[in-house]
Amino acid sequence: MPAAQSIAVIIPAAGSGSRFGDARNKVFAMLAGKPLWMHCVERFAARAEVSRIVLAISEEDRETFVQQSARSAIRGKIAFCRGGSERSDSVAAALRTLDGDDSVQWIAVHDAARPLVQDDDLSSVFEMAEQNGAAILATPITGTVKRGVAGQGGCSTVDRRELWTALTPQVFRADVLRSAYARHHGFPVTDDAQLVERAGYPVALVHGVADNLKITFPEDLQLAEAILKRYGNR
Ligand code: CTP
Ligand code: MG
Repeated sequence: MPAAQSIAVIIPAAGSGSRFGDARNKVFAMLAGKPLWMHCVERFAARAEVSRIVLAISEEDRETFVQQSARSAIRGKIAFCRGGSERSDSVAAALRTLDGDDSVQWIAVHDAARPLVQDDDLSSVFEMAEQNGAAILATPITGTVKRGVAGQGGCSTVDRRELWTALTPQVFRADVLRSAYARHHGFPVTDDAQLVERAGYPVALVHGVADNLKITFPEDLQLAEAILKRYGNR
């Protein structure tokens, strides 16, 4: 994507991290001396195509975000908005803050809990989005997949050859994402591409590295430390 093209990045960070089990939001957990959310922001702030970064946060976390960014170079590049009770509500709130900014042609959505996204993958997904209007990073399912219903005996095997795990960032032409969200009507979703698919737009899959994991449980943090070391602690 040419640098002249302006990408706004939405970073939903307004969860509570209930599965992580810390007293405070997991995005404040430290990884190589920096909170998780800051790893994400720094990766996008370093890209020439990125013009704005909006973090959706909960009101009770605002003070901590402001404090943690106070001495950082990213301070002037980020804005905060108030998130909502579901992830999609947080993204919708951040989208509203971008309303009226015609310089924003593309919108990337990236979980604050995915600190390991690599520059090459950002380049690939930005490029594919430009060609297709919508593109997401994804990684092929590697295990054998079973369909079973809890409490009922028996299961069946699902052909995994066409199955992918969705990652972020997910990148959309701004008008595509806006119109998908305009038709949301509270439909439960776990990523943004699902709304875009429902609105009838094709979403391209871009094979990204599985290292781009979402920190969900405490042990994911140890795995992330090991991956970062391998990359040389960037
Ligand atoms: N998120 C958000 N607003 C919400 C819920 C989630 O902005 N109402 C964000 C989280 O902060 C996280 C990302 O969406 O960066 C992915 O969500 P998830 O990993 O599920 O984080 P949490 O919801 O915080 O964790 P949990 O589901 O374990 O409570
Ligand atoms: Mg959640």
